[in-house]
Amino acid sequence: MSEINSITLKKPDDWHVHLRDGDMLKRVLPYTSKDFARAIIMPNLVPPVCTTAEAMAYKQRILSALPNGHNFTPLMVVYLTEDTQPDDLEQGYKSGAIQAVKLYPAGATTNSESGVKDFGKVHHVFERMAQIGMPLLVHGEVVDADIDIFDREAVFIDKVLEPIVQKFPALKVVMEHITTKDAADYIRSKDANLAATITPHHLMINRNAMLVGGIKPHYYCLPIVKRESHRLALVVAAVSGDKRFFLGTDSAPHSDEAKLQACGCAGVFNAPNAIICCATLFEQQNALNKLEGFLSINGPTYYGLPVNEAEITLVKTDKALNLAAEYKQLDGALTVFDPLTPLFWRIKE
Ligand code: DOR
Ligand code: ZN
Repeated sequence: MSEINSITLKKPDDWHVHLRDGDMLKRVLPYTSKDFARAIIMPNLVPPVCTTAEAMAYKQRILSALPNGHNFTPLMVVYLTEDTQPDDLEQGYKSGAIQAVKLYPAGATTNSESGVKDFGKVHHVFERMAQIGMPLLVHGEVVDADIDIFDREAVFIDKVLEPIVQKFPALKVVMEHITTKDAADYIRSKDANLAATITPHHLMINRNAMLVGGIKPHYYCLPIVKRESHRLALVVAAVSGDKRFFLGTDSAPHSDEAKLQACGCAGVFNAPNAIICCATLFEQQNALNKLEGFLSINGPTYYGLPVNEAEITLVKTDKALNLAAEYKQLDGALTVFDPLTPLFWRIKE
């Protein structure tokens, strides 16, 4: 373990978050807007955010829900459908209204029903995005009923992603929330156009946390958490300093009522402790010197945006964070990610 008790970083960004809408937006946004300067906002609302105009309207709703004094910029994303218009994307991207496009294979996850069934039908969209340098953000799982849920990411790489990368080598692609050694190795085997986000939960827990000693729905998310060897491969990628890996929390709040069901929703709500989870993990790995790259530098570098000027200081305390006490105001109705390891880091106010 390192002896470092305090570390100052450029303010982090979250390159993948679900802020939802309406009341849920008001409840969860302050956690993201307090700790992060910017975030890539997922568009899988009901109905999804499918055009530049819809993304601009959603951005206004987010800005209206911001607490006073929070300096936060939502980076908007359009949900790719088989009807997406390349001209709309180009105008939105060039005007700065939108930052990226999200590809959900239809049926892969929460609110993905409007996603893509036939990838050939969006090739003309990829072509335009490659021309203008607009990133494609990919939920990397196949949905075939005969593919085991634990294999869906690896199969997606072979069957869907590699053909896209071969056909559109100039396309910038972020493989979101990678969960396997296969994905980490695949990213490293390619050039700088291909990058990946990694979540705090996939870095800190494996599938035993979800399934041993009783089923734990709060650890159920998609892509599903994998075995320990995959978690370790993600940790190696995150702490390596390789610029192609950066934080995307995939914080995806669902009420406890929606999670604790015979058929519960997928998603982990980690916005409140994402940064301190990462600090804890990087310290365990003796890699605190790589934390700023993962949280604050690699993401903007990939997106061609400036690194934040603001800074945050993380301090180490003697007393582990008490999750239940700290997030009491959430009233038990929205459970915060428990990484099953004590958290001794805090963000200095
Ligand atoms: O666990 C997940 N929850 N994975 C996703 O891809 C979507 C997300 C959500 O929106 O709830
Ligand atoms: Zn997500």
